[in-house]
Amino acid sequence: MKKIIVGITGASGSIYFLRLMENLIKENMSIYVVASEQGKNVLKYETGVELETQIGVWKKTNNEIYLEDNDNLFSPIASGSFGCDKMIIVPCSMSTLAEIANGITKTLLNRSADVMIKERKKLVLVPRETPLSSIHLENMLKLSNIGVTILQATPGFYNFPKTMDDLINFVVGKALDSLEINNESYIRWEGKNEKK
Ligand SMILES: Cc1cc2nc3c(=O)[nH]c(=O)nc-3n(C[C@H](O)[C@H](O)[C@H](O)COP(=O)(O)O)c2cc1C
Repeated sequence: MKKIIVGITGASGSIYFLRLMENLIKENMSIYVVASEQGKNVLKYETGVELETQIGVWKKTNNEIYLEDNDNLFSPIASGSFGCDKMIIVPCSMSTLAEIANGITKTLLNRSADVMIKERKKLVLVPRETPLSSIHLENMLKLSNIGVTILQATPGFYNFPKTMDDLINFVVGKALDSLEINNESYIRWEGKNEKK
């Protein structure tokens, strides 16, 4: 069974994490969730959801969900030999992104991302910040240059979204695409003949 790591940090946009998880629990894969302390706080603040409780709810659908302790560097996902296939951090704060870009791995979240990079595995970061400083941009470029996918939480408007759900599903659908997980989360562009 494939193994995926899903990280959540204290950037705004924790609803993206929830929607992504709703999609992932339907897949036949083991899911390792790891959250920064601020990730849990912002999730609770923005959505009212308490992570530990929600994991319990998801476990009823998919028993292969594990909530890892961000302080536990003895966790299996801290090692490349455990063989995780892909990882996403959604949303990803500028702080965590900066630490990953600079190889700072004092938490399980950062260490897992560092492992994905060294093992040349798929790592997707979904940052949400605006405006972006040169420091943010430099860190993103550094990661992009070594193969990390930087998937900004920016919905498109060419498919005429009508609800907040449409906007969320667009970003989550693009994230699932990057993780190579089939989905119909959003309406895809099929071209348009503009005859004048
Ligand atoms: C309500 C709220 C929203 C925030 N939104 C963002 C954000 O969108 N992007 C960001 O980089 N930081 C944001 N922050 C700041 C981070 O939470 C802060 O930098 C924190 O240290 C990140 O820690 P972590 O990376 O360990 O989760 C926000 C903080 C709060 C309280």
